Order: sequence, then C-alpha cells, then structure tokens
Amino acid sequence: MSIKVFETKEVQDLLNAAVNRDGEGGNPRLKQIVHRLLSDLFKTIDDLDVTPDEVWAGVNYLNKLGRDGEAGLLAPGIGLERFLDIRMDAADKAAGIEGGTPRTIEGPLYVVGAPVTNGVAKLDKDPDADAGPLVIRGAVRNSNGEPVAGATVECWHANSKGFYSHFDPTGAQSDFNLRGAVKTDANGRYEFHTLMPVGYGCPPHGATLQLLHTLGRHGNRPAHVHFFVTAEGCRKLTTQFNIEGDPLIWDDFAYATREELIASVSEKTGGAALGLKADAYKEIEFDIVLTPLVQGKDNQVVQRLRASVAA
Ligand code: DHB
Ligand code: FE
Repeated sequence: MSIKVFETKEVQDLLNAAVNRDGEGGNPRLKQIVHRLLSDLFKTIDDLDVTPDEVWAGVNYLNKLGRDGEAGLLAPGIGLERFLDIRMDAADKAAGIEGGTPRTIEGPLYVVGAPVTNGVAKLDKDPDADAGPLVIRGAVRNSNGEPVAGATVECWHANSKGFYSHFDPTGAQSDFNLRGAVKTDANGRYEFHTLMPVGYGCPPHGATLQLLHTLGRHGNRPAHVHFFVTAEGCRKLTTQFNIEGDPLIWDDFAYATREELIASVSEKTGGAALGLKADAYKEIEFDIVLTPLVQGKDNQVVQRLRASVAA
C-alpha cells in the first residue's frame, strides 16, 4: 500500500488542532515540541505504512512502560541520555571549553540525600559476602590544575548482584548502602571505602528489556561507579567510570563508556589497617578535573525528577 496522506490539508489541520496551535492558552514551547513529535510520528506511519495493529502494540507498550515505572530506564537504553551528552559535549566544544573530566550519563538510579562526610566515607553499610573491598580515591582539580578543597564528591554504585540500594528488588539493602558524599580535604583529595560492584542488568520482566530483546539487544552494563562533583566556581560534573576488564566495557546497553573513563584496578594490601573487611583490597585512582562556570553560571546542571529518601 502506498497511501500518503501526511501532506494533505486534512492531516495538517488535524496536527494543528491537536496541539491547539493557533488557539489561546497552553504553553507555546510545549505546543511547538508536541506538534513536531506528532508530525514525525504521523509521517513515520505514512512512510513506513505502519499498520493499526502496530500502532496499538506501541500504545500498549507505553502503558506497560508507565506501569513498570521504566521510562527513565528506557531513556539510556535507546541512546537518548547519551544523545543529550553528545549535544552538551558539542556545545562545550563550540564554546571552547575543554580539558575537564568527560561527562557521561547520570542514569535513573541516583537518590537525593546521601550522608556527607569530610575527606573519607565508608559506603558499605550492609554486609555483602560476595563483594571484596574496594578503595576509590583521587583528587579534584580545577582547569588550572589547582586542587579544589571543599568540593563535594558524591558516589553511588551497585552491589555484588548488580542492584542499587533503594531500587533493589530483593529488598536486601538499607537506605544509602553504597551511596555517599565526601568533601575534599585541603589537597582536594577524596576517598571512598566500599565494595566492588558488578554490572547492572535491566529488570528481567520490564518494558525496557522487552524492547531491547525485540531489537535483538541485551540490557546489561559493565561494572561502573557514578559521580556527581560540585564545587564553588565550577560546573557540576556528572560522570562515571567503568571498571577495566569487564567484558561489557564496549557493549554497554546505556552507552556510558568513554575511553577516558575506564578505570584500572590495582591490588593492594593493608586493608585491615584501613578498617576494610579484608587485608587484600582493590584500589581505583580516579582524579577529577572540573571546568569553570560560564559567565558566572553552571550551564550543565540538569533538572530532573530524582528519588529521595528523608535523612
Ligand atoms: C541504567 C542503569 C544504570 O545503572 C545506569 O548507570 C544507567 C542506566 C538503566 O537502567 O537504564
Ligand atoms: Fe548505574
């Protein structure tokens, strides 16, 4: 069938009516965006001859996505969150901003309100028999290479099952397990004592994995650790490192891996003196470089709905 109705006056009038384009009231920006999205959808249906059955399968999928509460999980999986990073990277390049630690996606599993300590934080509040001790340490510097004292380094990651506290389907973790924040010391240094994470996998019966499987993809991430880093006079950095050796490093369903953000792991001893659960431990050095405000403003802060737990 090669029915083409998109360009007809009837369809164009319908699109304009659907967003109340010429009418009073409503949000003009939203009208513009919805008009464009609807137009692209209608045109896709016309061009690809999408059948009514396929359209209703899509509508039902959106209902499942909402029921599962997974829109925020799907966004990285379909590359949307990575695409926003690519745009911010390009904007930085055009503005001549370079040299900072690369940004990469936040993902949907941050929780507001983790406890803040000075210099060092112990993130593993719950025991995890399958995870060995890990120390993550480094310095925060500004773009002149100077250490930034009093910067806040916030960190969150999964446990040995790939589950994040607050979102753990087994209910096994307490609030803020494997989450915390440190204020850097006078030398700009921070240190987290924690347990080695493993990679995350999408919920097995959820809408995200359903779509990924239908595309012939998987829904797994390599082992990784997330960071927010904030400091006076600097732009907030949202980043993560992926841990070297994980077979999914370059096969991350959320597209967060960056060459500069692959952390190498060293083997250490002396963990007992640090209060770790074993004397042999692993260490990751992760130094962070922040970029300055742009005309006094942080143009890379992202507002989005985030989970929060009362302290
Ligand atoms: C998703 C999960 C993560 O742990 C992450 O860092 C990014 C994305 C997700 O489920 O979409
Ligand atoms: Fe994650």
